[in-house]
Amino acid sequence: MKPFLSLENLNKQFGQFAALNDISMTIEKGEFICFLGPSGCGKTTLLRMIAGLESCEQGQIWQNGANITHLPPEKRDFGIVFQSYALFPNLTVFENIAIGLRQQRASKVAIEQQVNHWLETIGLPEIGDKFPGQLSGGQQQRVALARALILSPGLLLLDEPLSALDAKVRIHLRETIRTLQKQLGITTIMVTHDQEEAMAMADRIVVMNHGVVEQIGTPQAIYQQPASRFVAGFIGVMNFLDLAGGKKGGKKGQPHIIGVRPEDIHLTASAAGSADSLQIPVRIERTEFQGPLLRVECQLIDCSSTLRADIPIHQVTTANLTPGTETCVWIEHRRMQHFRQEEAV
Ligand SMILES: Nc1ncnc2c1ncn2[C@@H]1O[C@H](COP(=O)(O)OP(=O)(O)OP(=O)(O)O)[C@@H](O)[C@H]1O
Ligand SMILES: [Mg+2]
Repeated sequence: MKPFLSLENLNKQFGQFAALNDISMTIEKGEFICFLGPSGCGKTTLLRMIAGLESCEQGQIWQNGANITHLPPEKRDFGIVFQSYALFPNLTVFENIAIGLRQQRASKVAIEQQVNHWLETIGLPEIGDKFPGQLSGGQQQRVALARALILSPGLLLLDEPLSALDAKVRIHLRETIRTLQKQLGITTIMVTHDQEEAMAMADRIVVMNHGVVEQIGTPQAIYQQPASRFVAGFIGVMNFLDLAGGKKGGKKGQPHIIGVRPEDIHLTASAAGSADSLQIPVRIERTEFQGPLLRVECQLIDCSSTLRADIPIHQVTTANLTPGTETCVWIEHRRMQHFRQEEAV
């Protein structure tokens, strides 16, 4: 079967500036995809190209078997929610949600029934008569979501819909969006620069940097097998060790960098299994109690690098972790990621 959405070799220039560089990917029907990357990497530009809000001079976009590359937005099949609430302030919530149906000249009864259904679905059945200014940010984003979904689009596009909300509301609403998305089975692309949000919500994450796709994969694959040093450093915490070529634990020959997660650094040989591990002498710099784990910052004795180790709290035994103590850490070879030196930034 053909993918639901297919982006083929998309490029975007703003004058001399290349905002997107040869972007290709396929997205299956019903998938929840996150575009994730630092500010300015091109996430919004790519989303807007899919919506037809940004022109596409190079490459092709296919949706549901049709070439939509040059279709105007109103001829495309999507609903969109932006970061800022973008509701019409002078219209009631009911009328904001009803706009699409009114444009389609739906009957009064159908509009009444549909809008009320969506007010129920977003968990705000009583607010139809209110104006956007009378709602909280989270409530406004729910209304924006209902407005985007009421015409049953094939594709839902979300540009940082949660980033203006406070942490608690954000986490609650991300569950709402995810549940609703699965219920409806609607193919969804959400732009975010929050890696935790992407990990929690996405079936697959597209990691972008400087207008290129660095990696596409499930949250687990991206965390466990980062394709580049950039991805390794951007997602979660990663220690980077600069080991000279040929040194124990390194691939022989060319110099390269080893990445290792804090949870894969052990303070006792027994925890790691000594033969398959790299042993590194360190000096304890400081420790930080974090509830389920103890975060230990150490300084490598042989060089200037520092390491961050996360030790499960129940494994912190009588080991002397007083700052200044010299000890060893162990890293299993199979937990090390190898990156080429020239990728270093
Ligand atoms: N209309 C435009 N004209 C010129 N440059 C633009 C235009 N739109 C975007 N850009 C540039 O293209 C790059 C990508 O912008 P984009 O908005 O896609 O980034 P983003 O990944 O969404 O970032 P953020 O996380 O800050 O929203 C930026 O450097 C931006 O300045
Ligand atoms: Mg953006």
